[in-house]
Amino acid sequence: MLAPAMWWRDAVVYQVYPRSFQDSDGDGVGDLRGIAERLEHLAYLGVDALWLSPIYPSPLADFGYDVSDYTDVDPRFGMLSELDALVASAHGLGLRVLLDFVLCHTSIEHPWFREHPDRYIWSPVDGPPNNWVAAFGGPAWSRDERSGRWYLHSFYPEQPDLDWRNPELVEAMKGVVRFWLERGVDGFRLDAVNLILKDAELRDDPPATGEFPFPRAAESATLEHVYSDNRPDAIQALRAVRAAAGDALLVGEVYLPTSQCARWLEVLDLVFGFELLFTPWEGEPLRAAIDRAVTLERVAWVMSNHDFDRLATRVGAENLRAAAVLLLTLPGTAFVYQGDEIGLANGPGHEPPFDRAGRDRLRHPMQWDASARGFTTGEPWLQLVDPQERNVESQRGDPGSLLELYRRLTALRRTLGEGFRLLDAEPGVVAFERGAHTVAVNTTAEPRTAPRGEIVLATHAETGLPPHAAVIVRN
Ligand code: GLC
Repeated sequence: MLAPAMWWRDAVVYQVYPRSFQDSDGDGVGDLRGIAERLEHLAYLGVDALWLSPIYPSPLADFGYDVSDYTDVDPRFGMLSELDALVASAHGLGLRVLLDFVLCHTSIEHPWFREHPDRYIWSPVDGPPNNWVAAFGGPAWSRDERSGRWYLHSFYPEQPDLDWRNPELVEAMKGVVRFWLERGVDGFRLDAVNLILKDAELRDDPPATGEFPFPRAAESATLEHVYSDNRPDAIQALRAVRAAAGDALLVGEVYLPTSQCARWLEVLDLVFGFELLFTPWEGEPLRAAIDRAVTLERVAWVMSNHDFDRLATRVGAENLRAAAVLLLTLPGTAFVYQGDEIGLANGPGHEPPFDRAGRDRLRHPMQWDASARGFTTGEPWLQLVDPQERNVESQRGDPGSLLELYRRLTALRRTLGEGFRLLDAEPGVVAFERGAHTVAVNTTAEPRTAPRGEIVLATHAETGLPPHAAVIVRN
């Protein structure tokens, strides 16, 4: 591991979706050697770390989020020795490496499911014992054909939930954490960690009283997930993970409003600030979302990832420059999803779909050059979206490109200074002070007034605060 601890405080973390980053062997699927070859792009961008979405062996019911072996690399991605080489190269460039730790469920094909069924959660009756609903819809209980018993799955039926109340499971998972830390990784993104524990008595969830502020499948939205999710004793369970992790970074995918996240920070270093991902690109809602989220001591800002519409699709291409400024000037850690730095939008997906929840269209391969051969010399597992229109090669070195804006921002954010205060602003403008600087982001299609001061960065050539623009001034 690289020193010092707490390196992540104001860091920028780049999310790599391994299938779609870089293929090195022409099979059309990205791999670890490919990622290693492209590390220079991350160093050029000026990010501090990369997070690899799951690289473990998996039957791909949920594209790697169904793990069948926690301590190996999927042969499609390469070998353990290539992961070691990737970590070493990354460290050589000053980049930290985070792995995705899918700790609440395994693949149904994980040997534990047969060999250690007591590491999973089973219904005490012959059928579902309660009304819990899976994240993508349908009951959260399925019958295991072999044993005839019913098991819990918070996601797809191919992803049985682990029982973190079983000390033997806890020990096994601590071993997994240690295994990867010994190989030199710098931390983990904890997948769906708000689901780590469920009510021990398996009580029914009550009907929903209010609206959950994040997207949920229709059926799931009819219930208040008080027994199946976000349990009070979850923090206790996570202490075991912390004990094994030492001071390695633990960033939680805590899929809850920030108002419910504070206690998770007792044991995690960071939780994602999903508010920014689910707030429309409009000044007042964004301002309110930021106001809520900054009350949390440590936030990992995220505006897009492999689960939801791509940033360009969600906010519109015209707002991408301003969105980059917002993401990279807020105080705290920022996560950038691969391709956002060149403005990659949703693609058409695949016919027939690989992902049953419709997420193929957010996972198209990285566009390295206009030829479409930059990603693979073979047939890409998902077609590239529009490599002629946007690619790394053409944006690199072009001072007006989105890529170069990201690069300027990763450098500039280090100089902004401590202190944060949201400012009153004109309608549709998000403005705040960061140290001795003021940042103003115009979410509207009309010009607004720029803050007074010496301009340090402007997203558009025109003076003032043009439509869809952002400026950073020194006060
Ligand atoms: C997380 C992942 C998502 C996955 C789910 C189940 O939300 O981001 O891709 O489907 O967990 O592991």
